[in-house]
Amino acid sequence: MDYEAFFDSEIAGLHREGRYRVFTDLERQAGRFPYATHHSPAGQREVTVWCSNDYLGMGQHPVVVRAMHEAIERCGAGAGGTRNISGTNHYHVLLEQELADLHGKEAALIFSSGYVSNWAALGTLGARLPGCVIFSDEGNHASMIEGIRSSRAERQIFRHNDPEDLNRKLSLIEPGRAKLVAFESVYSMDGDIAPIDEICDVAEAHGALTYLDEVHAVGLYGVRGGGISERMGLAHRLDVIEGTLGKAFAVHGGYITGSSRLCDFVRSFASGFIFTTSLPPAVAAGAAASIRHLKESGVERARHQERVARVRQALDAADIPTLANRSHIVPVMVGDPVLCKAISDSLLDEFGIYVQPINYPTVPRGTERLRITPSPLHSNADIDHLVEALSTIWRRIGLHRQAAE
Ligand SMILES: Cc1ncc(COP(=O)(O)O)c(C=O)c1O
Repeated sequence: MDYEAFFDSEIAGLHREGRYRVFTDLERQAGRFPYATHHSPAGQREVTVWCSNDYLGMGQHPVVVRAMHEAIERCGAGAGGTRNISGTNHYHVLLEQELADLHGKEAALIFSSGYVSNWAALGTLGARLPGCVIFSDEGNHASMIEGIRSSRAERQIFRHNDPEDLNRKLSLIEPGRAKLVAFESVYSMDGDIAPIDEICDVAEAHGALTYLDEVHAVGLYGVRGGGISERMGLAHRLDVIEGTLGKAFAVHGGYITGSSRLCDFVRSFASGFIFTTSLPPAVAAGAAASIRHLKESGVERARHQERVARVRQALDAADIPTLANRSHIVPVMVGDPVLCKAISDSLLDEFGIYVQPINYPTVPRGTERLRITPSPLHSNADIDHLVEALSTIWRRIGLHRQAAE
């Protein structure tokens, strides 16, 4: 086989469809978020980042940065092993306590990333609960899908955020079988929010475990940043709450929280937990500092919501089409991969604004978009500049379309 020719032809297909991914080479600047230096063949330039998942700017917060520095000074760089063989650092233990407390659970378990936590936890539960059927929301993230697939458990996909469909599907399964319902609180691309209470009602009626991914909500919602489940007073109804340390908490890693027995079970059987070097102590220290800070402080959350509302209002006033939702994610809908990339390129090249285009398979074909994530640190001037730039581009597209008709 001509392997190189094969790689070439597959990549050419992505180019043809306009969804070949080009990474934007950024150098984040501590103390200056949301500004960053963009490195390109044309040189270096400061840009405003409008698509970061460092939702609250905690990646540069002095409390977090200081905690990481201190941990490096005390412990050095890496963890030095897997959790079982010399790699459990005291900072990991403290972080797990912090996380269990955040969600009001008995225990927590940290993983290399949010992706790995979903893949390992769902993979292990699905594979080891005898005869388990996993009910998965059709909008679930790739990491949950991969975990469920690798578990080889029977899988039932229920309609997105549809407890009635879930109920129908659960009703068809023998009552005595092990069942698990896996879903998210805030869906990252549309920004819509699950009816957690209704899904819990249905799951409870059928004796199913509930597994909630709060990756896009932890730190951001609830009085202590425990996510939508905290805001709705529902955390106790979820058997597993999963989250990331890499988005609002702005460091790195993932976790599950649940009963001591469930966490001990995953700890003891999940290959993706057991056979890998644990997180560097400084990463655990930084994440714990970020969580601790956001448990106490609501300032960042309040300002975040205010900024999101302002961006939405300004985009509405300028007739830029956004997808309505009740979260912090502002999808500007384009509906064409080539156009989406062209708009993103214009924003960067002409206006110094960075918003990555989002294409298939991250979103369905025909729903390509610019996913805008306002932060507490975007100023009024930043918002005005973004909306003016989009308006200019939209006017131009309108003119192009008229000319083509
Ligand atoms: C819903 C959801 N779950 C899990 C993950 C993975 O989290 P991490 O980035 O920490 O690997 C993501 C990442 O974007 C996500 O959107």
